[in-house]
Amino acid sequence: MPHLISIADLSEKDITTILDRGDMHLTRMLKKSPAEQTLSGKTILNMFFENSTRTSTSLELACHRLGGTVINFRVSDSSIKKGETLIDTALTLDAMEPDAIAIRHTDSGATGIVANHVSCPVINNGDGCHSHPTQALLDGLSIRRACGTIEGLKIAICGDILHSRVARSNMQLLAKMGAHVRLVGPPSLLPMHPEYFGVQAFDTLEEGIADCDVVMMLRVQNERMSGHHFGTPGDFFHRFGLTKAKLSYAKSNVKIMHPGPLNRGVEIDSDIADDTTYSIILDQVKTGVATRKAVLEYVLGVL
Ligand code: CP
Repeated sequence: MPHLISIADLSEKDITTILDRGDMHLTRMLKKSPAEQTLSGKTILNMFFENSTRTSTSLELACHRLGGTVINFRVSDSSIKKGETLIDTALTLDAMEPDAIAIRHTDSGATGIVANHVSCPVINNGDGCHSHPTQALLDGLSIRRACGTIEGLKIAICGDILHSRVARSNMQLLAKMGAHVRLVGPPSLLPMHPEYFGVQAFDTLEEGIADCDVVMMLRVQNERMSGHHFGTPGDFFHRFGLTKAKLSYAKSNVKIMHPGPLNRGVEIDSDIADDTTYSIILDQVKTGVATRKAVLEYVLGVL
């Protein structure tokens, strides 16, 4: 039974299989062709312990469009509020026999713990600062569609690396698929030993994005910060906010990505975020529905 907790769970071949299938789904979506009903009779349980717009909605749409049923477990109305533990909650819901559980949790490692206790596949949709594999898969497919390949590209992941599960999952996936990955941010938000992850680190945006094919900006995650990692949001924007002037250091056909939600004027200027000459941010959202269709098919064994 394949869980999807981390990109480390997937071989290069698995990733290619999911991206190829997601690509097919996206092509059909863009042509307005009806989706195949591969999830007919299947039920997915969505358990989101943390807010989400893109991930929860795209999972729900993906499942519905493939003919499956989604049940949204409402944490705020549940017996969690009476003190029921995460594991007891997971065991209880598993006893109702969903075909898969899609989960997001505030604590790093929580989704892996659930996977160890239930009898159906578990899809991690973000656990604390640890991992967000479905985001990395949709980012991989977005890059492949925008640039034709992932292999050999120079890709800079920029900003609040320390708190970013998106950065961690993308570093793994992009390196596995042959990209040259750079991390860019203030030293307080960068790993101490980037070489351990097989990436280069830079503490100036201009140097870090120089000659890059893809620049992936990250949200500054104030809600996960306990200390002072940089000065004011204005200081951060001055040094690490992506503007048209700073973008001139990258390749002229550079593609700009952001997992969302955006802090406009903190990590990215609206001039860049909304300019579709560079920005593929809304393409990432579209690709998210198609990729999550492929992920559901993968974990349910219908791929
Ligand atoms: N990228 C992402 O995970 O967005 P949401 O928090 O809106 O799901």
